[in-house]
Amino acid sequence: MGIDNRIGIGLMGLGVVGSGVAKALLEKAGQLTKQAGGTLVLEKVLVADIDKHRPVQMAPGLLTQDPRRILDSPNIGIVVELIGGEDPAAAYIESALKNGKHVVTANKDVMAKFGPELLQLADQNGVEILYEASVGGGIPLLLPLKQSLAANDISSIRAIINGTTNYILTKMSQDGLSFHIALREAQEEGYAEADPAKDVEGLDAAYKLAILATSAFQSTVRPSDIYCQGITRLGEADFLHARELGYEIKLLAIAKKTEGAIEARVHPVLIPADYLLAKVTGVFNAIQIEGDLVGQVLFYGKGAGSLPTASAVVADIIAVARSIRGPRPEPMPAGTVVQDMVPVKPIFDLVSPYYLRMNIADQPGVLAQIAHVLGDRSISIASVIQKRADPVTHSAEIVIMTHPAREQFMDDALAEMAKLSVVREICNFIRVEG
Ligand code: HSE
Repeated sequence: MGIDNRIGIGLMGLGVVGSGVAKALLEKAGQLTKQAGGTLVLEKVLVADIDKHRPVQMAPGLLTQDPRRILDSPNIGIVVELIGGEDPAAAYIESALKNGKHVVTANKDVMAKFGPELLQLADQNGVEILYEASVGGGIPLLLPLKQSLAANDISSIRAIINGTTNYILTKMSQDGLSFHIALREAQEEGYAEADPAKDVEGLDAAYKLAILATSAFQSTVRPSDIYCQGITRLGEADFLHARELGYEIKLLAIAKKTEGAIEARVHPVLIPADYLLAKVTGVFNAIQIEGDLVGQVLFYGKGAGSLPTASAVVADIIAVARSIRGPRPEPMPAGTVVQDMVPVKPIFDLVSPYYLRMNIADQPGVLAQIAHVLGDRSISIASVIQKRADPVTHSAEIVIMTHPAREQFMDDALAEMAKLSVVREICNFIRVEG
């Protein structure tokens, strides 16, 4: 293969994912060259510290601490950004695109916040930006949305897209662990970060949902548009009651397109135990997408980790290389540039069934008072179960399942019920999906 068949790659970041990508590029060079239609040459690798010991063997001249050696290099056609986080990654991506370089990134923070603008910038500069690895690690999602499902109007996404929280919820459900003990196990297994707030508060899932929803609905959905509630308030009792009622508890990222509006939210849900999503356990991710033609499809696999994520990054590199080597640049695939500005509904407009768990005084007339508060706000009760009466404190735990109700009314009802002297504690309320 002649020298003009080479495609120079600049890799920014050599951490967990960067090392996986470098390993794949170096060890699978022959296979990748055939697939890409050109020789993929790793020209430079940006690292914070050249002298640090690394598991991947690199020729010493390959490493640099100067980003301009990649961003301004005439030998580099594809910049692979794997630094993560917003700063300085966003500025590097912008600079690469302005310099006419294609970009492949796994950066969910940058793509969730600035994706539409960066896609536009790429378009203006006649290059591509691909970011399959930013959501769901190695699971193909963005390319299927752009290509295989392109004939569909996508109506909904229901996704387990945070492995750490799914691991914690699985431990709470199957082993009866408390949230804190399950979190500690996740940390010991190396799944959760030392500061796990982004995972357990649902923010990581919200960023990924912003990217998925923007791509699926071709309309800008920012992380700040997404209602986000984490898993920290779930108790052992919620899992026991959910199981008895035929449900599992999962942290779902949900986006739906309805007439003139988009719904986008991340929070714990009760889902029927026989649903496929309810059976997704441990650190696995699963993303269910519904289209008008295809119906429901489910994508399942590893949503994080060095090699699964590298799988998606390298596939994007091959896709870009093919379009560079092709007879003429391919047009941007449908859906890469955002077309609409559909408003995202506030959570108060949501209509959902609810599960309520509360601690009440165990005396006559209490249920009537609670039913009155709900009934006044057109919230219809589907069932009430009384649990765990305590003869010493004269209190009992009750679980109420409602029919679909408007969140605004439920919020009002919760505030009103909290004022009743017979209500000792509103322990939890969880939306029911499906
Ligand atoms: N912290 C994420 C998770 C992995 O637990 O799924 C990186 O996106």
